[in-house]
Amino acid sequence: MRTAMARVFSGVQPTGEGPHIGNYIGAFRHWVDLQKTHEECFYCVVDLHAMTLPWDPKALKEGVRRTAATLIATGIDPERSVLFVQSDVAEHTQLTWVLTCLARMGELERMTQFKEKGRGNERDSVPAGLLAYPLLMAADVLVYRATHVPVGEDQRQHLELMRDLAIRFNSRFGDTFPVPDAVIGRQGARIMSLDDPTQKMSKSSGRPASTLGMLDPPNVVRKKIARAVTDSGREVRYGQDSPAVSNLLDIFSGVTGRSVAELMADLEGQGYAPLKAALAEAVLAVLTPFQARYTELMGDPAQLDELLDRGAKRAQSFAADTFREVRERIGLRVPPR
Ligand code: AMP
Ligand code: TRP
Repeated sequence: MRTAMARVFSGVQPTGEGPHIGNYIGAFRHWVDLQKTHEECFYCVVDLHAMTLPWDPKALKEGVRRTAATLIATGIDPERSVLFVQSDVAEHTQLTWVLTCLARMGELERMTQFKEKGRGNERDSVPAGLLAYPLLMAADVLVYRATHVPVGEDQRQHLELMRDLAIRFNSRFGDTFPVPDAVIGRQGARIMSLDDPTQKMSKSSGRPASTLGMLDPPNVVRKKIARAVTDSGREVRYGQDSPAVSNLLDIFSGVTGRSVAELMADLEGQGYAPLKAALAEAVLAVLTPFQARYTELMGDPAQLDELLDRGAKRAQSFAADTFREVRERIGLRVPPR
């Protein structure tokens, strides 16, 4: 059944070593599923967000293509969903400015991601973009009047701020934006590093052994899983006192769609080695067809660019309509189209 009046929006950064299994389990697989139940899904490669930390122009350009190909290869259908690149639609940055003038410094300074990424830098030299980042993210969603935002757990706080800004705008200028809901999976919304279950798996860790890259070749996947840290016990257990093995089970559940309870029943009485062996094969069952499709897509850059051009056109018309209404409401001139 399709849900009327619901509009999905989500984004992914084209940075670092490329998407990992945490992105897939926490985000992409849900994006693919939402296409089946929601008429209107917008999926965006957020290149402007990738500029909040120092970037290399060539790597940024390449990263955008790779990320778009990743999304299509995982099952985002560019005919059904609007798949596009953030900087292709100027209204994102225009609405960001409006939100920048509504947000408060304190709200931005409280964001965990800002505090974490800014750590180690002298406060005076942290790029201001790192502070403004959640405003650009709020504009991404609001400019499409999206109602549902599927993300991993790490984005919960940004979503709360986005909701506050929508409510603030509506109460000052009249009902304009739906207040968007975060859609966060109950399981797998926070996949942890393979080498340290206290840190989330991240594209920018700088430690290849910590992530399972979606493009890692089979032997690398097997090796990384075999070397993943485990807990001090010997049996497969799930829970707080077993964080490393619980993370492996979350990954297992995330790639197979089977419940942790079911997986544990299968592994009853077995040690860590059989768990790891079975997990590696389950991960490869997802990654192997994905990688084949990815390679095909990357082999035809002209077709990929054409798909992104079409996505940009579709996105632009929605964003332009919203921003014209915003202009009227806040007292800016509305220029001719
Ligand atoms: P990013 O890699 O920061 O662009 O994130 C893209 C999407 O993947 C967002 O919805 C994140 O919340 C999600 N995500 C990133 N890292 C993880 C992780 N370790 N576990 C689960 N979801 C994640
Ligand atoms: N900030 C998100 C991340 O780092 C990416 C993102 C940007 C996003 N704009 C968005 C996610 C809008 C959802 C909706 O993961």
